[in-house]
Amino acid sequence: HTNKSLEGKTVLITAGPTYEAIDPVRFIGNHSSGKMGFSLAEEASGRGAKVILISGPSSQVINDKNVELHRVTSAKEMLAKVFEFYENADIAIASAAVADYAPKEVAKEKIKKNDDSLTIELIKNPDILKTMGEKKSHQFLVGFALETQNEEENAKGKLEKKNLDMIVLNSLRDEGAGFKNDTNKIKIFTRTEKKEFALKSKDDVAKDILNFVENQLLK
Ligand code: PMT
Repeated sequence: HTNKSLEGKTVLITAGPTYEAIDPVRFIGNHSSGKMGFSLAEEASGRGAKVILISGPSSQVINDKNVELHRVTSAKEMLAKVFEFYENADIAIASAAVADYAPKEVAKEKIKKNDDSLTIELIKNPDILKTMGEKKSHQFLVGFALETQNEEENAKGKLEKKNLDMIVLNSLRDEGAGFKNDTNKIKIFTRTEKKEFALKSKDDVAKDILNFVENQLLK
């Protein structure tokens, strides 16, 4: 990259899924691969930023001396790691697919298949992004919304409820968007603007997102 447009900035990015343990061998998780977040990290670094990338379990790798990668497993671990760095971040982007619920208790031993049905009680995880919104001072805060219905309404609701500056919507109703794919199709919302993008590679989506952020910072 020749244009070091994020020189001097620290960008905090969450990526990947979280795994919530049920017992020593099982967990509740989701289909996030980490690709979207790793693409954002690489692009931000290419623009000269110092990047703190906090990722749940993912096979993605990154080899970039300006990216400090922290691997975590559960939502609670991700929350703790995020708040080690949030204070010093200029831009924070939450692309992780954080589990909304975790098992109330983690069984110490592998659960045996003795009964015909098994009930696992779940309790709500901390909302990492909402907590970032509550503690926001100078940070420019970007959330994601992964939706399957009432997409725009839900995304705008999250923008307000989590005190964000901007939200990136991707819908599982769009072919090639969301989890695992190397591509994504997004819409970006601020309180006053809306912009729709074509289906493109996650690397190019990361460029669109960071271009939009940079434009907002100039306002
Ligand atoms: O990893 P990939 O395979 O490349 O897929 C990319 C992606 C689909 C995971 C990504 O583009 C994406 O949409 N990430 C957000 C997924 C999500 O959990 O969305 P949500 O609408 O449930 O959550 C809204 C926002 O709150 C997100 O920014 C999320 O990171 C955050 N959140 C949610 C719950 C929670 N407990 N803590 C959070 O911080």
